[in-house]
Amino acid sequence: YDLTANNTFGIKARCRRFIEFDTVDGLRDVSAMLTDADRPLLVLGGGSNLLLTKDYAGTVLHSAIHGISVNETTDGGWVEVRAGSGETWDEFVELCVSNGWYGAENLSLIPGDVGASAVQNIGAYGVEAKDIIHKVEAVDVSSGSVVTFAAEECGYGYRQSRFKNEWKGRYVITYVTYRLSKTFVPRLDYGNIRAELERRDIVVPTAEQVRRVIIDMRQAKLPDYTKEGNAGSFFMNPVVTREKYEEIVAEYGAGYVPHYATDNGHEKIPAGWLIEKCGWKGRSLGRAGVHSRQALVLVNRGGATGNDILALCEAVRSDVKARFGIEMNPEVNIV
Ligand code: EPU
Repeated sequence: YDLTANNTFGIKARCRRFIEFDTVDGLRDVSAMLTDADRPLLVLGGGSNLLLTKDYAGTVLHSAIHGISVNETTDGGWVEVRAGSGETWDEFVELCVSNGWYGAENLSLIPGDVGASAVQNIGAYGVEAKDIIHKVEAVDVSSGSVVTFAAEECGYGYRQSRFKNEWKGRYVITYVTYRLSKTFVPRLDYGNIRAELERRDIVVPTAEQVRRVIIDMRQAKLPDYTKEGNAGSFFMNPVVTREKYEEIVAEYGAGYVPHYATDNGHEKIPAGWLIEKCGWKGRSLGRAGVHSRQALVLVNRGGATGNDILALCEAVRSDVKARFGIEMNPEVNIV
């Protein structure tokens, strides 16, 4: 099965088997049928956080579970919205905003599916999926049993969850339930949202306006994968010690080093800044490139193989390591 259309990097690769399911029972039937010869398993959503470096010698599972339903909670101020893992994330966000269910709007225009939001704990503009996830339903494909996890059981952290670590290849997500507010509380502190709203003469924004601003900012900065293959941020923003951060500030001057404080006294430094300071922004290595407007994004300049992208990843990583002594880890799933 050809996976070229199933990964936003646009890498040519194949897998042995590709199985799509559209109900929980359908997925249970699939899990009963899978033999050791069908493994390993790769659960694929929109393929927007994936780098394929060779053909996949196993089975790719893809959710086409659709449907969105809503439950009013007893306290009245909140709704629980349950969405099939195969729903497109941004269509879900749009639906929430237009129905007056708030909390997801800062995560506008992130590519991928609902299922992936709960695996990857997607995040942007000061909000993470874990802030709104209430529970996650899945099928244990080793036994066919149906399980429900409370958000607290999923081990969420910055771009982390148990689904992408110790539960990888075992639990396949079927539904995600989000807890959303009926009152809009704008979160505007991250980056340029506030400045951008002011520029548009918006004093008290609606959720629609916040969504619009975020969509515009993303479109201005991030490459469109239908034109230039990519998987969004290629690296996670590294978390460094306070001493390391001070060392960099001593060199570049206070106010010149972008950073976010973490809760354990460490600092998160944007990988895009480190990469730019190493001179990689806009540069290419063969058919792989570093995006010219956001250095955190690696792009397929046309006809790149997974190994072309990987070679660029390693070159960038080792330069950042040599220049700053900081280890950057990919956030993209490298298969
Ligand atoms: N910066 C540079 N040069 C660059 C890029 C960034 O100097 O080429 C510096 C700038 O100072 C900028 C700062 O880094 O102000 C932060 O940049 P940005 O706001 O674009 O955010 P980021 O930290 O680079 C993260 C997420 C993005 C998310 C944005 C916005 C990660 C790995 N990435 O990027 O997520 O959209 O914040 O919230 O945490 C993704 O995961 O695919 C993704 C796009």
